Order: sequence, then C-alpha cells, then structure tokens
Amino acid sequence: MSSTVLVGTQWGDEGKGKICDLIAGDFDCVVRYQGGNNAGHTIVVGDKKYGLHQVPSGIMYPQCISVIGNGCVVNPAVLLEEIDMFEADGISTANLKVSGNAHVIMPYHIDLDGAYEELLGSHNIGTTKRGIGPCYQDKMARIGIRMQDLLDEGVFRDKMARALDRVNPQLELIFHRPTYTVDQICETYLPMAERLRPYITETGLLLGELVDAGERILFEGAQATLLDIDHGTYPYVTSSNCTAGGAVTGSGIGMKNVDRVLGIMKAYITRVGSGPMPTELAYETPEGRTLTEQGYEYGVTTGRRRRCGWFDGVIARYAARVNGLTDIALTKLDVLSEFDTIKLCVAYECNGVRYTTVPEHESAFAAAVPVYEEMPGWRGVDISGCRSFDELPEAAQNYVHRIEELAGTKVSFVSVGPGRDQTIECGWEH
Ligand code: GDP
Ligand code: IMO
Ligand code: MG
Repeated sequence: MSSTVLVGTQWGDEGKGKICDLIAGDFDCVVRYQGGNNAGHTIVVGDKKYGLHQVPSGIMYPQCISVIGNGCVVNPAVLLEEIDMFEADGISTANLKVSGNAHVIMPYHIDLDGAYEELLGSHNIGTTKRGIGPCYQDKMARIGIRMQDLLDEGVFRDKMARALDRVNPQLELIFHRPTYTVDQICETYLPMAERLRPYITETGLLLGELVDAGERILFEGAQATLLDIDHGTYPYVTSSNCTAGGAVTGSGIGMKNVDRVLGIMKAYITRVGSGPMPTELAYETPEGRTLTEQGYEYGVTTGRRRRCGWFDGVIARYAARVNGLTDIALTKLDVLSEFDTIKLCVAYECNGVRYTTVPEHESAFAAAVPVYEEMPGWRGVDISGCRSFDELPEAAQNYVHRIEELAGTKVSFVSVGPGRDQTIECGWEH
C-alpha cells in the first residue's frame, strides 16, 4: 500500500482530524489539498486538544512531512499563529512545506465574504466568513495573489495595486466599507512573508520525488463531499473540490499514485451553515439532552451550534460513488448510546418520487422527506471503552453492518471517543 486519500463524506466535522492523526504515523507525508482556515480539525493527544485550521494533522509526527498544497488557500496570520502554537508546545514545524502556488487570503476577501453574505440576507450560505469564497473567486478569475508573490516585494506591490484598483471601488461604492492602500497591506503582509519564506517551496516537485522514492502519502481532505463545489448541495457549499479527486489537482501528483480512499463518516449527521438537510431533527434524548449536546456538536472554527440528524444512508451511498471509497471510518458511535431505537434514512421521497441516491436537482433535494428504517439501540451501554469489534453490543454491531450495506463499502475503523486509543480497528491494512 502506498498513498491514501482521507475524505469527509457528509457536511464536514466527521472526525477527519482524529482519524488523520491516528494513521498519519504510517505515512511519510500528509498533504492538505484544498480549503483554508474554514476547516477546524480536532486532535486529542493525551489530555491535550488541538484545533487545526491550516496545518495538516500529520504535524504531531516529527518524521512526517506536512504539506499545504497548491489547491489550498492560506491566511498567513492564521498559519503563523498555528506554527507559533506548535513550536511553543515543543512540536517542530521544520517539516512543514507550503506550496508557492497556494492562493493568499487577503483582508478584502474576508470583508467581501461578509458583504456577500449580508447581501444574500435570508438566502445566505452561512459561510465561516474567513474569505474562502472570494479568494477562490480571484483564483478562478486568474487575478489572485499566490504565496510565491509574497516573496518578491516588487511583484507583490504591483499585483496588490492591480487588485485594489478592482476591489476598492467594490468595497466603497457597493458595500460602503473601508478601502485599502498597498502600503497598508504591505505593512502587515511583508513581515509575515519573511517569517513564512523558509516554508514556501515547490511542493508538487517534492511530492513527485517522494512518490518516486516509494514514500507513502496521506491526503487530508477538509470540508466534505456535500460541501464540494461540484458534487455538493450547491449553492450551500464551499468553494473547492473537497472530494477525493481534489487530492490530485490540489497537490500535483498523478491519480495512479492513490491506492485507497478512506471516507470519514459520522454515525449520525451534522451540518453547520444553511441549506437542506433531510434527516435534521431537534431531537431530545430520553435524558432531555439534544444530540448537539450529547455529541458536543459546536464548530471548531466559528463556535456555531451544528445542526444534527439521523444517519443518512442515501448520502453514504452517494459519497461512496463520487469519492470511490474503499474504506470507511465510522466515528462518534458512542454518542448514540442514549437512544432506545436508532433511525437510519434509506431513501428519500421527493415530490412523490422515491430516490436512493442524492437527486441532482436542487429543488428535489430541498423537498426530500427521509424514508426511515428503525433499529434497536444499545441504550445505557458505555461503548467508549470497547477496543475490538466483538466487544461492541450486538445492536451496535448490527448498526455498523447496516451502514456497510447501505454504503456498499467496508467499515475499517469504528471510533468510540475523541482520543487516539478510543478506536476499534476492523480490517485496516497498515
Ligand atoms: P473534522 O473537522 O472532521 O476534523 O471534525 P471536528 O474536529 O470539527 O469535529 C469532530 C469532533 O468530534 C471533535 O471534537 C473530535 O474531538 C470529536 N470526536 C472525533 N471522533 C469522536 C468519537 O468517536 N467520539 C466522540 N465522542 N467524539 C469524537
Ligand atoms: P471541516 O474541515 C463544516 C461550511 C460553512 C458553510 C459552507 C461555506 O472542519 O469539516 P465557507 O466559509 O467554506 O465559504 O463556508 O461550508 N463549512 C464547513 N462546515 N466543517 C467545515 O470544515 C467547514 N468548512 C466550511 O459552514 O455552510
Ligand atoms: Mg471540523
């Protein structure tokens, strides 16, 4: 086995950080290939908890090279904060590499993200307001600023001047917001560029060399399948390709180098931000707690309460198809221990039509009414100490097997708590 893509299969926050950190030690390199500091990946090591936004979750392993690939967008201030946090904790960032082709999030991207959301009013996307959409917008319009541009003051000033000619009138005349000068931006960005200079490199070339040397690469997806700009629930999505295909375009290595696609799947569903979510519920557990509280479902990046719902098998099957999943890591199974019975969505009824895959048409998906199956739960049994599949109560085993059936993919990990050790391995090849 050589390289693996790890990808979110729902609307994000499935526990990608935990599983990435768990398996990263088997790899020589971990690569983030899309997204920016809209991501919030939690890693729990002993009694320490880290919320990572930009830096790959392989950073905890000193021998592992951590790459922020060309498909990412980078907020230099957030990246430096993370670097400082790790260094202060004695975790070396010497092996961190940032692509010169990754795009830079500028202050006006953040302003415009907020302004566009305000303009959309009740139709807003519920973005993280980190400037992600406007930064990718500039990339696609071929007027973006890249990490390599930060390294040459003349080039940076020239590109900034041209960008501001376009951005300032928008900020001033349309949104009545403060404008920027080149000097003002250079004052904050150039010192950050100097600090980041040692990290910026040609990561595509580096990854190619690693592949040629037979090294193993782990691609760490951010966001998730249903937030993908092409395959997600458009327009309520993020602005990058979070699905497995993004791993090759967002890093610069060929498809033949990827062996496995590990889908991270939560045992129920959560979503932050706007947009349809067929199985959403405001469910009270018998103890009177919501699933949000039970699973501690609050955003790592924005602190927003995550919307929660029953597991959606239609989405699981869809994610298996668009990512080409070979394995599943089923996370947060312990959170379902408070229910007498557990519901799984196996199909949708959309305007009188039955769907067993996510309908392409936006209005059909918005109208989707879940068709549920109900399974007995394992209420009252604390499964967070289980370390082998056989130790799980039979009802929990049956639930896992039903998910495998619905997704048509084998479950290779069951996660029963946030810690590294709170994991059951069931067939993952190291
Ligand atoms: P990511 O964005 O996919 O990396 O996920 P987040 O870190 O945003 O959210 C997942 C949350 O669930 C974090 O607080 C994790 O520490 C926690 N977590 C991960 N796996 C498990 C699990 O199996 N059980 C429980 N109870 N918590 C988990
Ligand atoms: P991780 O990697 C959950 C959501 C936002 C919003 C939409 C667009 O931790 O799983 P954006 O700021 O990207 O333009 O917002 O995408 N979103 C996430 N939801 N987890 C994330 O990342 C997310 N990143 C973006 O809430 O609905
Ligand atoms: Mg997250």
